[in-house]
Amino acid sequence: MELSTSSQQTDSLCTLIFENSAEAILVADSNGKIIQANPSCLNIFEYTLNEILGLEVEKLMPKNLKKIHESHRKNFVKNPEFRKMHSGLTLIGIKKSEEKLLLEIGLSCVKSGNEFFIICFISDVSDREKWQNKIRYQQKILRKYLGVTHSLFLILDTNGNIVMINKVGSNILGVSEKEAIGKNWFDRFLPLDERESTRFFFNKMVNGEIEDTNTHENQIINFEGKKRLLEWQSTVLRNENGEIDAILSNGLDITERRISEDAKKEALIAGQEIERRRLAQELHDGIGQAISAIGLNLNALEPELEKFNHKFKTIYADIKAKLDNTFEEIRAISKNLTPKILEDFGLARALEYLGETIDKSTDVELHLSLHGDLKNLDIKISLSIYRIVQELISNALRHADPKNINIYVTRGSDEILIIVEDDGKGFDPEKVTIGLGISNLKSRVELLKGQVNIDSSTKSGTSVSINIPL
Ligand SMILES: Nc1ncnc2c1ncn2[C@@H]1O[C@H](COP(=O)(O)OP(=O)(O)OP(=O)(O)O)[C@@H](O)[C@H]1O
Ligand SMILES: [Mg+2]
Repeated sequence: MELSTSSQQTDSLCTLIFENSAEAILVADSNGKIIQANPSCLNIFEYTLNEILGLEVEKLMPKNLKKIHESHRKNFVKNPEFRKMHSGLTLIGIKKSEEKLLLEIGLSCVKSGNEFFIICFISDVSDREKWQNKIRYQQKILRKYLGVTHSLFLILDTNGNIVMINKVGSNILGVSEKEAIGKNWFDRFLPLDERESTRFFFNKMVNGEIEDTNTHENQIINFEGKKRLLEWQSTVLRNENGEIDAILSNGLDITERRISEDAKKEALIAGQEIERRRLAQELHDGIGQAISAIGLNLNALEPELEKFNHKFKTIYADIKAKLDNTFEEIRAISKNLTPKILEDFGLARALEYLGETIDKSTDVELHLSLHGDLKNLDIKISLSIYRIVQELISNALRHADPKNINIYVTRGSDEILIIVEDDGKGFDPEKVTIGLGISNLKSRVELLKGQVNIDSSTKSGTSVSINIPL
């Protein structure tokens, strides 16, 4: 646009701004009559210019506010006070169709001779309010949910300091939400032995290497110094620029659940041991005694043997040898069922004996390699190791058809390492149906806070390694 004089230039500029402003502008006189409205204003209130000119400004607001607004207007004319836009005050407006609007209004005025003009700058914030209400409502639901859930919710900043924790969390920790905020999670609420590994995964998340974790467990230590076991799932939180600025974790206190699971496992294993003892006793006192009675009867026949022919004598000797063998086998089974040898001579001797009895009954080469002091072990640990090795040898013999079975049991300074490997068929631990054998073995190891690793392939056979901390 070409502009020639400076006053013309100013006039044209004002008109241009007035006509094109995205903000609604309305001008009223001191009596509240509307004398000018820009297109944005007409658009908001849905009037034409002809319709709006001459209306009272109070027409654009709810009827019940008419009186109070009139008195405000009169005061404003007497004592004008400029009100900036976005002062946080939201007012209600009324469209021509009587529909309500939410508005933010800035006020200004101009005096020209005796005339006084009120200028209103109007923003339609109905949509913004709707969204804010929605967000407030969702926040309310979230707060309610965080209050009723049994889970602990925790948000840590990238240094591991607590940004948010819900009521459940503060109850578990034994500190108020206020006291918890700002404290370092790792230094303050994790036992020493959990800090390094937990921080390792936390740092991986902070560095963007892991987005979400699978369920994992770790202990926390509460205000009273008591440990609780929690099952966690965590995810990263990113800001509007996509940068990771916090880690959100959801934890479930499984302390009691784990105690009752452990008690069940322990009861199952104890039940098995009782049943084995009963069986061993039955074998020894029942079948064993019966066989030795038959043996005695056979012995009684011996002085008479001279009267019989060679064939009879050979059959007699054969029966006697088989009976002795059966008796020995029953004794061996009975001994393995209740490894008394374990209590009397310790784990090393018991494992050697186990190896000897199995070696004799198969063609498989059994290699036993024992290291460290296996004598002075808690009977619970030595019985578990004995049963574990027994199950793994039995699995190799029953399922693998191996040539060799190697057994290593090594006592280190703070753990016992057990490896049982065979060069048989191998199997896919993901595909086979796990029986009582492996599931009991895992229960035993879990009860001792150890770990099992099964490595098996059709080419090289199976290797099962187990660590048991001491
Ligand atoms: N050393 C092994 N070589 C090949 N397959 C094996 C071996 N050990 C285990 N398996 C496979 O894993 C399965 C599960 O073993 P698990 O000991 O749990 O049960 P099981 O031996 O079949 O029965 P049980 O409850 O009497 O022990 C076996 O049935 C077998 O298919
Ligand atoms: Mg088995």
